[in-house]
Amino acid sequence: PRVAVIVVAAGSGTRLRARAPKAFVAVGAESMLCHALHGIAAVSSENPLQTVIVVPPGYEDAALDDARAALPSSEDLVSVTPGGATRQESVAAGLARIAPQVEIVLVHDAARALTPPEVYARVIAAVKGGAAGVVPVVPVVDTIKRVEAGRVVAAVDRSVLSAAQTPQGFDRAVLDAAYAEASDDFTDDAALVAAAGHDVVAVEGDPMAFKITTPADLDRAHALVAPRER
Ligand code: C5P
Repeated sequence: PRVAVIVVAAGSGTRLRARAPKAFVAVGAESMLCHALHGIAAVSSENPLQTVIVVPPGYEDAALDDARAALPSSEDLVSVTPGGATRQESVAAGLARIAPQVEIVLVHDAARALTPPEVYARVIAAVKGGAAGVVPVVPVVDTIKRVEAGRVVAAVDRSVLSAAQTPQGFDRAVLDAAYAEASDDFTDDAALVAAAGHDVVAVEGDPMAFKITTPADLDRAHALVAPRER
């Protein structure tokens, strides 16, 4: 395939206070990872994607079971690899597994388990259109303050701010080179690619691509999938 997706699922999910690593926590009948892979299956039905799942060491078999359930027709395009201590290390581990012919790499958080296929389509189209990096964004709903030592030191103009989601998409050569050079820690791949001097463009994200982080987020995800499973 010309397009690959790295699904980062190696986080511990401390803030979720669950027993399993976050991506293996159930939302309804299936794990978060499984839900994320269903989204990828919907995208892959037109153009098969190479899928690299990055998991906590020891969860390789669990991830393969989820892949068999969600991506039965493209099992030979799936690989599973252990991640690292940071998200950035986990993405780097996934990048090492990308097939030589791949030209576009998407990086997706398993924790954004309910991301609709349309977001993937917009990101892939923008990279195909020539963008070095693409990030789906949604408007910021809260009023944002800069706070230092308990004091509000500045109000920030919300109208110029956006919240970044995933999947983020990149020209494969750009992402490889940016990762090879990166020394600092970045919270997302778009920041790492921008720091390497590349233009990153924004496309419309989706409220359903929210990241499941806290127990309240998990409750919301449960409520959203319950009607589908009935
Ligand atoms: O912790 P946070 O929710 O920001 O993590 C975002 C995504 O990165 C999650 O899907 C998580 O599994 C993944 N991650 C990872 N390896 C780490 C830390 C986070 O794959 N060491």
